[in-house]
Amino acid sequence: MPDFDLTNFSTEERAQIALLEPERMPQHIAVIMDGNGRWATRQGLPRVFGHAAGVESVRAMFNACDDLGIRYITLYSFSTENWSRPADEIDALMNLIDMQMRSEAEHLNRKNARIRQLGRVEDLPEKLVETLRYIEELTCKNTGITIQFAINYSGRAELLDAAKKLTRAAANGEINPDTLTEADVAAALYRPDVPDPDLVIRTAGEMRVSNYLLWQIAYSEFWVTPLFWPEFRAPHLLEALLNYQQRKRKFGGISA
Ligand code: FPP
Repeated sequence: MPDFDLTNFSTEERAQIALLEPERMPQHIAVIMDGNGRWATRQGLPRVFGHAAGVESVRAMFNACDDLGIRYITLYSFSTENWSRPADEIDALMNLIDMQMRSEAEHLNRKNARIRQLGRVEDLPEKLVETLRYIEELTCKNTGITIQFAINYSGRAELLDAAKKLTRAAANGEINPDTLTEADVAAALYRPDVPDPDLVIRTAGEMRVSNYLLWQIAYSEFWVTPLFWPEFRAPHLLEALLNYQQRKRKFGGISA
């Protein structure tokens, strides 16, 4: 059962937390952080300011999840489709992610957090790859919250990469295609040691999956808010958690 550390929450937030059932907390929350560009445009600012402002929401999400004892969060930070954006926006985003990872590495390590990337790392800028390797190595033995940054990630690419791994293993005689199980496919994904998300949070109101964790979200609960990602803070997470705890998860069966 997760332990709640209430010291960093406001009185209003503590009142929300009092309504949560500790034994019904999600283990893993996946987030589609959408609306950075629209948030910036609405303020009359260039889009990249939205990504920079979104970092504060990442920090708020991390702190709140850590204090609530949530074990895993996965943040959609850059999809394989995002390469179609203007080069200056891509450069700014890559630099922002790189800088944040570098500047937060020690702090996250002290917080006992385990940091890793999810996706095709090989197509990312060399400097960012180095930073991601550094932070993953630094934090890999930590036992607290795991934060996965999905960077150059796509659910279909992950399934394709898993299919390649499995067909290679079959060709080498290591596995038998006729007896292949769902567990074998799950084991061929990028991070097979992480449980499937219980809850997916999407900001900016769009009702779509956007090629995110396609295998893993088969039975995840969804919570969509019209707020743009830079506006997202602890009270919105708590609202999502309270809503999640009212759901009856049936996994294709019937209610108990
Ligand atoms: C979607 O908004 C957001 C992204 C593609 C990038 C998210 C990245 C961050 C919040 C920075 C992450 C920081 C770290 C440390 C990983 P959008 O640009 O698609 O917004 P729009 O739909 O309004 O155009």
